[in-house]
Amino acid sequence: MLVFVPPHPLIKHWVSVLRNEQTPCPIFRNAMAELGRLLIYEASRDWLPTVSGEIQSPLGVASVEFIDPREPVSVVPILRAGLALMEHASSVLPATKTYHLGMARDEETLLPTVYLNKLPEKFPEGSRVFLVDPMLATGGTIVAAVNLLKEHGVANKQIKVISAVAAPPALQKLSENFPGLHVYTGIIDPIVNEKGFIIPGLGDAGDRSFG
Ligand code: PRP
Repeated sequence: MLVFVPPHPLIKHWVSVLRNEQTPCPIFRNAMAELGRLLIYEASRDWLPTVSGEIQSPLGVASVEFIDPREPVSVVPILRAGLALMEHASSVLPATKTYHLGMARDEETLLPTVYLNKLPEKFPEGSRVFLVDPMLATGGTIVAAVNLLKEHGVANKQIKVISAVAAPPALQKLSENFPGLHVYTGIIDPIVNEKGFIIPGLGDAGDRSFG
């Protein structure tokens, strides 16, 4: 598994806005959306298939390259907080389908349950999937989500996980279970406390995004 923390000043900026406990809900949500846009942009590099040809510009014939519309690209946000991180995805990706996954972590056991599954019965052959969840803490949620994608026909190497903050327990579980997976995150934080919160992290991403 590969973990990328893109060294971009805008990514550092939006992570810093998210970290600030003074950041109010609408600004937090916009910062999350901007961070997601940049991470998806970085994760798209060398990954989205293109189709080339020639096109007539107003002043001549030019070689061109477009994203190949025949190759399926999907975004799977893990509700709730994943909705905020993917909010600007459509401004980066020309054509995608969105499939929602609702998952909630039990506050006592920290185990996830799936309360909404809008994944297709089987993803189209060759699908590329951006799996979006801001917080990778104990890793229970993201591991269950990747397993669900696999049950629906997506291979590890066809998945890019997009997160705002990732912690070692989650990264370790992902790397043990899913070789070939790629994770893009705004930052890696060192600690998950006994309540399952990332320290210093940015608090409860779902509550801070949606009030
Ligand atoms: C949070 C977060 C992740 C999960 C991470 O969601 O957004 O989905 O917990 O925890 P884990 O790595 O320990 O499994 P939560 O269950 O609080 O739902 P929410 O997004 O609706 O707030």
